[in-house]
Amino acid sequence: MKDKSNREIKHIRFSITSNCNYNCIYCDQEGFIPKTSELTVDEITKLCKILAEILKITRIKFTGGEPLCREEIIQIIKNVSDLYLYKDISMTTNGLLLYEKAEELYKAGLNRINISLASLKPDVYNKIYNSDSLEKVLKGLEKAKEVGFNPIKLNFVLMKGINDNELDTMIEFCGKNGYILQLIELHEVSDAIGGNGDFYKKHHLDVKPIIEELESRAEEIIVRGSMQNRKILKLPNSAIIETITPSHEFCMGCTKLRVGCDGNLFGCLYRSDLGKNIKEALHNHHSLSKYEQIVKQVVDSREPYY
Ligand code: 5AD
Repeated sequence: MKDKSNREIKHIRFSITSNCNYNCIYCDQEGFIPKTSELTVDEITKLCKILAEILKITRIKFTGGEPLCREEIIQIIKNVSDLYLYKDISMTTNGLLLYEKAEELYKAGLNRINISLASLKPDVYNKIYNSDSLEKVLKGLEKAKEVGFNPIKLNFVLMKGINDNELDTMIEFCGKNGYILQLIELHEVSDAIGGNGDFYKKHHLDVKPIIEELESRAEEIIVRGSMQNRKILKLPNSAIIETITPSHEFCMGCTKLRVGCDGNLFGCLYRSDLGKNIKEALHNHHSLSKYEQIVKQVVDSREPYY
């Protein structure tokens, strides 16, 4: 299904809970505040089936809050995997509960993970995440590698004066361990969902010049057309860096549909106001074409840029 700007929806980002065991200084809350209760496991499974069938997509990413805070997480992954409709089932996690859950998650059918890791220094980590648990997260990361997750991506949100002196260390760490580094530019969070205006002003760093510098060192540069035109750089130490910098070009390449934990479908991190809640409709035994109408409405509401 294409939107009015001719962008095809190719994957979904599905928040399964807004609960979180962290309180990160940069958190965007996935761009929405839930208005009603969380979808049940059955509702999530049904919605995943409907979306795969309507959109003919095979990729899904689960997020939160913190997805591992959802008690039924293993069941959710298993149900979605057992649909045999998704080839790529991934998750973004802060990693705190990964050590204990990695194996079960992998067995249930999760095949990829992204871990938020904005520092390798315990004191800085603590400051960013308000959690004194770097060591535990690193153990979880090791465990995830051991049980077979591949690739493992580390989300590194760059913040001026906080962790901007750790980029080289992160590149080295990723090269050595075979993790992919996602270099992410800090974005602003709208006031409607809590805002981070002052924090943003103080700590935002334009990542473009840094990317240019990395490009000059790269052995290879690839542009992922279907993923917001994200660039992938391969560095001589074999580190792979993906870059995420919000821009018009970024939006032009956006092929994502978002689902909030309350069943709100929306097209953009910044525009949950254009969403439509599908929770109620899931209880009516609608034909696929009726669900398609609802999804189409949301897809058509996507604006060229946020
Ligand atoms: N700016 C950039 N990235 C953010 N994330 C969350 N909040 C922000 C923000 N303000 C990203 C991080 C985290 C993922 C869940 O969302 O990469 O790992």
